[in-house]
Amino acid sequence: MTQRARIIGVGRHLPARVMTNDDLARIVDTSNDWIVERTGIRERRIASETETTSMLAAEAARRALASAGVDASEVDLIVTGTCTPDGMFPAVSTLVQHAIGAGDAMTFDVNAACTGFLSALSTARQFIATGQAKKALVIGAETMSRIMNWEDRTTCVLFGDGAGAVLLEGVPDEDGASDAFVLHSDGSQSGLLYATGPCGPGEALAREAHLVMNGAAVFKHAVTSMSEACLEVIRDAGLTPADIDLVVPHQANRRIITAMADRLGLSGERVYMNLERYGNTSSATIPIALAEATAEGRLKAGDHVLLCAFGGGLTWGAMTFEWAGIRNPEAAVADSVVAAEVAAE
Ligand code: UT7
Repeated sequence: MTQRARIIGVGRHLPARVMTNDDLARIVDTSNDWIVERTGIRERRIASETETTSMLAAEAARRALASAGVDASEVDLIVTGTCTPDGMFPAVSTLVQHAIGAGDAMTFDVNAACTGFLSALSTARQFIATGQAKKALVIGAETMSRIMNWEDRTTCVLFGDGAGAVLLEGVPDEDGASDAFVLHSDGSQSGLLYATGPCGPGEALAREAHLVMNGAAVFKHAVTSMSEACLEVIRDAGLTPADIDLVVPHQANRRIITAMADRLGLSGERVYMNLERYGNTSSATIPIALAEATAEGRLKAGDHVLLCAFGGGLTWGAMTFEWAGIRNPEAAVADSVVAAEVAAE
């Protein structure tokens, strides 16, 4: 029988260093008022010199496992969405496999920029559906600070570093659960948002890599494409917007999220936002938000959850599914020995 993937664990990990809007105003010609009014962002986290994307990813993965009460040895697939890996290879997922002790699990990364987590989650779901994997970690992890042009005020105020993870488990697909996903892309628009150069740690590399964006054009595309993708999956799942209990959108800009939610007719409390604390962590925004929504008690078993994202490529997509419930929700955001050690470095 076909298997259906359900989320049984979720976790997130952020670097300890906080960079506020006022900190940024000392680097580029900007202000706290402008950033808050135009984006909703108040602060973001920045990785230390020694923190890598895979380190953030591994810590988020540990918390996802702890929240589910599952040992790393049970994981047979790890897929990470990232556009800022530690290096060209090995894959971040492979480094995570070693760091957490996930046997000889299948591991690979996907890159769809800010849509990376949705692409990774959709991919892992297919492995679960066919029975090829029984328990899969899906991670979104980024060190966007390493590809910022810190002289460009139109981009460097928007992004931050962090990681989130979910643990999927396959269950027999016999209860007619309403879930669906769509992923789309338009490479003809690649010039609107792209990054050049390598992105690993180290000053020399960081100077070579930078992100370039036409903010206004991406803004318009984001609102239209995310709302259309949301309506597509809601329809495919046999639902209406009124059935959605919580939307967890990609956290790029408060105005984008509000405009999209308005188009869907969804009111404030059904739309999750935490971008004021972390900014845009690219493929990590959705799993970080899911972990925090879980810990805050915003999700209960049986809720219809709607995820949506857009990003460089351009890429965009949406997914809806029923929330299964997490055994230890507080573990999703708990501090750990490893996190404390990293922060102390
Ligand atoms: O995950 C996908 C990532 N992509 C995104 O999140 C991008 C989506 N786009 C956006 O979020 C918005 O377009 C921005 C936040 C990037 C820009 O907001 P906007 O309301 O579209 O502003 P704008 O680009 O039209 O610029 C308005 C003014 C300009 O000045 P002039 O030409 O009117 O004199 C900019 O130079 O604001 C200026 N400006 C700034 N001022 C202070 C741009 N960035 C800043 C800044 N601080 N950081």
